[in-house]
Amino acid sequence: MTTLRTGWTSWRAAAVPGSVFTLMNAAVAQARAAGHGIIDLSIGSSDGTPPAAALDAVRSAADRPDTYRYPLFSDTAPLREAAAQYMRRRFGVTLDPVTQVLPLIGAQEGLAHLLLATTDPGDTLLMPDPCYPPYYGAAAVAGLQVVPLPLHAEHAFLPVLADVPAGVHPRALLLNYPNNPTSAVATRAFFEQAAHWCRERGTLLVHDHPYAELTYPAPGEDDLAPSALQATDDTFGGVVELHSLSKSHHMGGFRVGFAVGDADVIAALARVKGAVDFHPWLGIQAAATAALGTVPGGLQVFRERRDALVPALHALGWDVRWPQASMYVWARPRQGGADLADSVSFAVRAARETGVAVSPGRAFGQMGEGYVRFALVQPPEVLREAVERLSRVPLMP
Ligand SMILES: Cc1ncc(COP(=O)(O)O)c(C=O)c1O
Repeated sequence: MTTLRTGWTSWRAAAVPGSVFTLMNAAVAQARAAGHGIIDLSIGSSDGTPPAAALDAVRSAADRPDTYRYPLFSDTAPLREAAAQYMRRRFGVTLDPVTQVLPLIGAQEGLAHLLLATTDPGDTLLMPDPCYPPYYGAAAVAGLQVVPLPLHAEHAFLPVLADVPAGVHPRALLLNYPNNPTSAVATRAFFEQAAHWCRERGTLLVHDHPYAELTYPAPGEDDLAPSALQATDDTFGGVVELHSLSKSHHMGGFRVGFAVGDADVIAALARVKGAVDFHPWLGIQAAATAALGTVPGGLQVFRERRDALVPALHALGWDVRWPQASMYVWARPRQGGADLADSVSFAVRAARETGVAVSPGRAFGQMGEGYVRFALVQPPEVLREAVERLSRVPLMP
């Protein structure tokens, strides 16, 4: 295609949507300048500490000069094996660590490259709305036609695949449960239906699963974060899942995760990644390998925060469900019987006038309008203080 181009921005770069977080950062800076103490609940970056074994592994790797070179695929064997063992222990799924597991520099990197590896420009991607905002950029970079799958509260924020118009032929379906931003969970039966739906259409099922370990089940309750791989046969044909140590093991800054599933998909992803990056530094791989052998901690901390925040928001009259998973509270502000109409304006005003930063629902998609998302990244008393400050912000300017 010959198009007249101006400047140095490719269509790919130009297609990546801007972020409302730029507005939020400016509002937070204004609040700081005005002397407000900042309570930032806008980013889901865990404030927990990685497992001691992971920190020991990274420290000792730093003292070993043989870890300083470029890592080869063969060097990733310990992490691939640890990931396969984790998948067996956690989900009862047996993977070949050579062909069905690949280390990632986080799930976000994995998804962007996965789309490049498995789709062609112009292909259709079915994607939830609301969703984790980088999905929009990843789809844009791959030149995909996005068909949004609306997530409604009445359907427990699960997509209704039967509502996808018959004329839509998606190359891939992207799901994420436990869900960011809604905190919704999906059952294994849901994944079985989704896998069946995809198989019938020749659609790749991509499951982004970074919250696999962040669930708050009641005693005796079923797994709130099943794997999509449990919904397929032993070959995992047409199914791939992205895991991350960012949330489960508080290792967001380490940038490490792994992809699992269909060997063809994993091979295609490895090809694209081979053109873009080497594997994570050996010290980070060692840390992730060690972390995957531990029982994830910090759940009680998130549960206590949830238990502080949700009642405080209920007392304001906001419409909020108790999340059973993830580190978010997805809330629908209400004042005097009126709903929130403009989440971006509210979040910007709230940040500027009170120093409390939350994510406006609109940042996650059109269906997010009317909501705000709280990340449970502060202690209970700080969350209560945040709600007290927010109570003074009118929903309308
Ligand atoms: C749904 C979802 N996917 C991926 C990520 C990023 O994961 P990673 O840190 O492994 O890139 C996040 C982080 O918030 C997320 O919410």
